[in-house]
Amino acid sequence: MVLVSGSGTNLQALLDAAADPAYGADVVAVGADRDGIEGLVRAERAGIPTFVHRVKDFADRAAWDARLTASVSSYTPDLVVSAGFMKLVGERFLAAYAGRFLNTHPALSPSFPGMHGPAEALEYGVKVTGCTLFVVDAGVDTGPIVAQQAVPVLQDDSVESLHERIKQTERLMLVDAVGRIAREGFRVEGRVVRFGALG
Ligand code: GRF
Repeated sequence: MVLVSGSGTNLQALLDAAADPAYGADVVAVGADRDGIEGLVRAERAGIPTFVHRVKDFADRAAWDARLTASVSSYTPDLVVSAGFMKLVGERFLAAYAGRFLNTHPALSPSFPGMHGPAEALEYGVKVTGCTLFVVDAGVDTGPIVAQQAVPVLQDDSVESLHERIKQTERLMLVDAVGRIAREGFRVEGRVVRFGALG
């Protein structure tokens, strides 16, 4: 199950990988917090069921979170991947998918958490940034790290060119890690994540 808010290129990478049965994972559904995004078009083109729950259509954030949790649960996913989903989920969702909800972030955690990872990396002047796949906890981009990849910052980068270079690596990281989780399992021990179901 994948949650999106935007162009959905990470989703597309997972859909492409899942076309090979040997990959081990299928995308059972795609959820979004807004209409009219390329991510939903990509899902529909692949014949994947979709749903949209906009926060503003609910009485409050908790009601939105409850509906999101119910819709996701109706597909009984083993894993939920937030791939450019620009919302923080609430307590109910976190409780339902604790340890099974992953998010991809365009920075090397714990640096530059939040919505502006590439811009803040550029502004800070780091020469290396990257991407992080992590198990979502109650913080903002703070959960145990599943995978990370480094990406160079080039001297003439704009926020857009840097984010685009990060996203190329991010898609490979995501596809690789989700495939390994599907085929081998994973476990979280404190802050440390290891692939493989057996201790
Ligand atoms: C990714 O870089 C993700 O980490 C960030 O937004 C981007 C989403 O890209 N939060 P896409 O929608 O998968 O193309």
